[in-house]
Amino acid sequence: MPVPAPSPAARAVVTGASSGIGMALARELAARGHSVILVARRGEILEELAAELRSRSGVAVDVRAVDLSDPAAVEPLCTELAGREISILCNNAGIATFGPVAELDPAYERAQVRLNANAVHDLTLAVLPQMIRRGSGGILMVGSAAGNMPIPNNATYAATKAFVNTFSESLRGELTGTGVNVTLLAPGPVRTQTPAPEDASIVDKLVPDFLWHSSDRVAAMSLDALSRNKMRVVPGTLSKTMSVAGGYSPRAVVAPIVGRFYRKLGGDE
Ligand SMILES: NC(=O)c1ccc[n+]([C@@H]2O[C@H](COP(=O)([O-])OP(=O)(O)OC[C@H]3O[C@@H](n4cnc5c(N)ncnc54)[C@H](OP(=O)(O)O)[C@@H]3O)[C@@H](O)[C@H]2O)c1
Repeated sequence: MPVPAPSPAARAVVTGASSGIGMALARELAARGHSVILVARRGEILEELAAELRSRSGVAVDVRAVDLSDPAAVEPLCTELAGREISILCNNAGIATFGPVAELDPAYERAQVRLNANAVHDLTLAVLPQMIRRGSGGILMVGSAAGNMPIPNNATYAATKAFVNTFSESLRGELTGTGVNVTLLAPGPVRTQTPAPEDASIVDKLVPDFLWHSSDRVAAMSLDALSRNKMRVVPGTLSKTMSVAGGYSPRAVVAPIVGRFYRKLGGDE
């Protein structure tokens, strides 16, 4: 069953809508006629995006400036969403850290788990009952190819994305026949903006331009896949290669190889 058609009462929610893939998802949803609720911490950027979407697409837009790594802030948002008609939820907001976990800021690592995993779980549980009751809805989970394998020097991120990947594909199985679609977006690198040469990461330098997918393209592909209730979207050759390598290679072999690569991302040459 396709995702619900836009309606004046219904809202599509996008977390992490102030940047990158989330902003592209919000634009694409609005272009398809969906009224949206934009969630992220930087309310001023969300308000600018809201004004753009209202004038360009004529949809209703609500802004919620919420720190999703703070359970006390997530709770009222969940209560609000549970009480409104939510047709689509895009669990997109996420952060990553690189380097040995013991050397990283413990507070930030814990916040990463709360944002990347707990908030995804909380928001999903908040909207699921109404979607099942109506027999329609769509949940897009933004996991990562990084969630398919152990990644030393990216441990917290890889573990949280393993949670998202597995939660998404497990939930989809539970919801078969309910009319609620669940799709996992599990990309490798997505270019959300072209970096200045001095800011380019090792990934920017190593991966040739033609292998990158833009966030606009990824957003459109993801929403098309959600509409068809595809289990997983893996955009582009690079992402597919990472996905296959992570899925089929022995974990004990993969871990030291990717660990060396990610050590460089952490700034350790
Ligand atoms: N880009 C890639 O190469 C890639 C690859 C694989 C997976 N992904 C996944 O795709 C998703 C989006 O990635 P992106 O590259 O588009 O990221 P991005 O440009 O860095 O955007 C991250 C978004 O998350 C929001 N966010 C961060 N901390 C938050 C918090 N505590 N509370 C609420 N919102 C918060 C940010 O908004 P505020 O700062 O305004 O709060 C921002 O809107 C993430 O889950 C990421 O793991 C990305």
